[in-house]
Amino acid sequence: MSKILDIKNLTVKVNSEKKELKIIDDISLSLNSGETVGIIGESGCGKSITALSILRLLEPNLKITDGIIEIENINVRKLSTKELRKICGKKVGMVFQEPMTALNPVFSIEQQMMAPMKTHLKMPKHELHNRCIKLLQQVGIKEPEVVLKSYPHQLSGGMRQRIVIAMAISCSPSLLIADEPTTALDVTIQLQILRIIKNLVQQNKMSLLIISHDIGVISTLAEEIIVMYAGEIIEQDSKENILKNAQHPYSEKLITTALELQNGSKQLTIVEGSVPRPYENIVGCKFAPRCEFCTEKCLNEKPPVIQKSNGIGKVKCWKYVKD
Ligand SMILES: Nc1ncnc2c1ncn2[C@@H]1O[C@H](COP(=O)(O)OP(=O)(O)OP(=O)(O)O)[C@@H](O)[C@H]1O
Ligand code: SF4
Ligand SMILES: [Mg+2]
Repeated sequence: MSKILDIKNLTVKVNSEKKELKIIDDISLSLNSGETVGIIGESGCGKSITALSILRLLEPNLKITDGIIEIENINVRKLSTKELRKICGKKVGMVFQEPMTALNPVFSIEQQMMAPMKTHLKMPKHELHNRCIKLLQQVGIKEPEVVLKSYPHQLSGGMRQRIVIAMAISCSPSLLIADEPTTALDVTIQLQILRIIKNLVQQNKMSLLIISHDIGVISTLAEEIIVMYAGEIIEQDSKENILKNAQHPYSEKLITTALELQNGSKQLTIVEGSVPRPYENIVGCKFAPRCEFCTEKCLNEKPPVIQKSNGIGKVKCWKYVKD
C-alpha cells in the first residue's frame, strides 16, 4: 500500500512575548492509500494545528520548527508557495472547522465551486458546470441548478457544509482532511453529513483524516484512532482496540466518559483538572497532574512511546515500561 501522508516528528511553536512555546510536540503519523484515521482529544490539544500544518496554513505567529511532512512522497516543507498551491485541492481536499466562514458571502456557489477546478482541471466551462451539478448530487443536494445560482446566506448550515464537502473533493484528491465537519450542525444533519463523507471516501477510494472531539464521529468514520493530549500523540491503535481496551490512562477515561454519555448514565467519569497550557513548563508526562497512576518518574521524565503487545498500537506512558 502506498503512503499518502507521512508526518515525522512534527513540532510547531508559537511566538509569545519573545519566547517560543511548543504547541505541537514531536508528533508522527501516517496514512496509507484508502485508510481512514481519526484524531481525537479535548479542546485545545492541537488537532486543528496538526491539520493546518499539513498544508502550511498556520497563522503567521505559528511556525513549524521541526519534522517532515510528506504528501505522496513530496516534502511539503520544501515547496514554494506556488508549488504548494498546486497540491492544495488537487492532492488534498480540506473541510475546515469553521463551516460558516469557509464560503465567501459575495460570490455565488457556482463561482466558488468553479475556482479550484479552474486551477487544477483543464476542462471547458460547460464541463466544469456539469461537474458542479454532479458533485452537488453526490452530496445529496436535490436542486443543484438552483443551489449553484445561490449565495451562501440563502442556504442552511447543513446545505453549506454539503457544498464545502463537494468543493473539497471537486478535484479528486487522494486525501480528504475533515476537521470537526459536523460540530456546528444539528444531530440529524450531523448523521446525514457523516454518511455522505463515508460514502464519498469509499466511492472515490480516498484516504481520510477525520478530526473531532466526539468519539461517535471518529468511530463512525475511522478504522484507526489517534488520541492527542496537550500537543502530543499519547496513544494510537485500531478503532476496536481503542474502544474496547484503551491503555493510556487519559484515553481510557475519555472513552469511558463517552460511553457513559451514550448510555445515558447519571454518574459520569470526570477527569479532574484541565489540559496544561503551552506556557506551563512540564518536564515529565503532561497528564501527570491528572493521573491516578502518576509516579516520581512520571513527574521528572518524559514517557517513552511503547509498541503495544498487540503489535499494532502504540502508547506513550511509563506504566507500560517494564523495569
Ligand atoms: N494563532 C495562535 N496563536 C497562539 N496560540 C494558538 C494559535 N492557534 C492555536 N493556538 C493554541 O494552540 C493550541 C492547539 O490549538 P488547536 O486549535 O489545534 O486545538 P484543537 O485541538 O483543534 O481544539 P478544538 O477542539 O477546540 O478545535 C491551543 O492551546 C490554542 O490555544
Ligand atoms: S506516564 Fe505516568 S502520569 Fe503519564 S499517563 Fe502514564 S502513568 Fe500517568
Ligand atoms: Mg480544532
